[in-house]
Amino acid sequence: MVFTDDKISNFMVKRSLKLLSDSFESKNKSIEAAKILDPCIGGASFDIALFQALEQEYIKSYKLSEFLKTNFIGIDIEASAIELAKENLKKVGISYADNLNLKCKDYLTDFNEQGFDLIIGNPPYIGEKGNRAVFSKVRDTEFGKKYYEKGMDYFYFFIEKSLEILNEDGILAMITPAYWTRADSASKLREAIRARASFVDVIDFGELRAFKDAVGHHSLIFFLQKKKTAEFSYYLINETKNDLGEILENILYGINMSPEPEISISKENHSDFIKSCVSSEFCMNYSPYFNFISKKTQGIFEKIKKHTKSILGELASINQGIVSGADRVTNKNLSVLKEQIDNEADMNIKIGDGIFVLNEKEASEYINVCSCLVSFYKNSDITAYSIKKPKYYLLYSTSKMSDADEEKAIKHLSKFEVILNKRRESMLGKLPYYHLQWPRRKEIFTGEKIVSPQRALYPSFAYSDDELYASADVYYITDIKENPFFILGYLNSSFTDFYLRHVGKKKGKYLELYQRPLSEMPVIDISEDKKLEIAHRAQKITNSKICDSLKISQLKLEIDNIIWNELYNL
Ligand SMILES: C[S@@+](CC[C@H](N)C(=O)[O-])C[C@H]1O[C@@H](n2cnc3c(N)ncnc32)[C@H](O)[C@@H]1O
Repeated sequence: MVFTDDKISNFMVKRSLKLLSDSFESKNKSIEAAKILDPCIGGASFDIALFQALEQEYIKSYKLSEFLKTNFIGIDIEASAIELAKENLKKVGISYADNLNLKCKDYLTDFNEQGFDLIIGNPPYIGEKGNRAVFSKVRDTEFGKKYYEKGMDYFYFFIEKSLEILNEDGILAMITPAYWTRADSASKLREAIRARASFVDVIDFGELRAFKDAVGHHSLIFFLQKKKTAEFSYYLINETKNDLGEILENILYGINMSPEPEISISKENHSDFIKSCVSSEFCMNYSPYFNFISKKTQGIFEKIKKHTKSILGELASINQGIVSGADRVTNKNLSVLKEQIDNEADMNIKIGDGIFVLNEKEASEYINVCSCLVSFYKNSDITAYSIKKPKYYLLYSTSKMSDADEEKAIKHLSKFEVILNKRRESMLGKLPYYHLQWPRRKEIFTGEKIVSPQRALYPSFAYSDDELYASADVYYITDIKENPFFILGYLNSSFTDFYLRHVGKKKGKYLELYQRPLSEMPVIDISEDKKLEIAHRAQKITNSKICDSLKISQLKLEIDNIIWNELYNL
């Protein structure tokens, strides 16, 4: 069971109660009338904080037990969690914990009460993979049919259900992973929020970990209400060694706020967090995702939209690299083999051996004798404007290769037949074991193209008109209808970085240069002369040597200036 840090639950509780009391005050209602729900109580970390905060500020001590017995509900699907919650509540002096409304129930399928003023919690984060039964139990209900979406997480249901049973002037406060605001798999969730709620406050943990053991996990606290708000506050916490509790207190009481930067990515900002004022309309409707962009910066995005005649997906094809289905022997491959071959010594196969992807030594007997053996690039070989020499080879083994090549491919691949036949298409009888799973169109790799790794700290696009084969973690921009060097310069510019960092996709600090963000990248309406100026410089950078780094930086800066000046003058 994952427990929420006290510092986080204290902050969420105090902020929610303040928001709720403000909302109630405008209607002359008192918190004493509020109905409160924790839908996934776990060890009761929210409830301990809640009960203490209510007593400190909102409910007289002698009335608290009565209030909690009638106005508070806690739920968990696990009986052990309910027991633990009671135990923990008793430890902090709630002697009547056994008499509280703590129910062992499935919140999503077995809870039908309505009309809550505050719903607060840390829902379970579970993917469908490996948890099919947990999902289908919800999916089979009316509620589940309405909200299920492919690739979703279980916590989406908790938000959706909570919105259904929240009162009009109520508050929903949750801590979840941050990715759903920009995930394609969360479009129904975003639509549910768009249709019936708006943000009151959002706290983005950035690179700071909210849960100690969760590496690479980016968290978000959000407060939603059903009333439409014109704007809300977005707090981005910087990577800092300062105490999280103190940072959250400062957010709570508006202390140590650094002034909102003009442009909301601020690499140089050393404060604990940055607060921006965000327009609700812009956040929810500028793109299919939720965009937490300050009102100060929003104008640029409106200008970009107005001056975009084409997006990249209309000016070029964006293709993913190759999926072999078995690059080199993995642990899993070996266990498949062991199941089928009695004598391990006979296998003559070990982890790391090249199947379709070969190292220099493994490839040596095929170099120059097999035309389907090609150089194979890793995504780390590709950086902005340059491509490193690859160390690997690929057997580009497809239905179109010559008989002589097929013979050589089989010679190398036959000993891996058992492994290769475990690929889905081979099991279905659609793919001979010695063919690549998704070889794509060969022209993608042989013709003129711009390539990029799927994930990079900065835009990293490089031009090539040579053969360049790489796997699915590399994207290929081909059939370019513009001057390709203009597109190259444009994509590597600080403008693209700015745009993608704000409204593209990110994983922590990394930009995700996937099909969709690339396809949707606007190509702003730049004059033909300026396009040529950019293309000329991008070509010069591509052809220059590493030792020209000063010259390269100068050229890059010139490209950035041309694009930004054009944008401002539009
Ligand atoms: C991430 S833990 C949060 C625990 C606690 N609220 C906290 O923050 O420390 C999620 C909790 O949700 C409970 N849970 C999982 N599925 C549930 C469901 N369908 N209905 C109610 N509770 C559920 C789990 O048993 C677990 O205790």
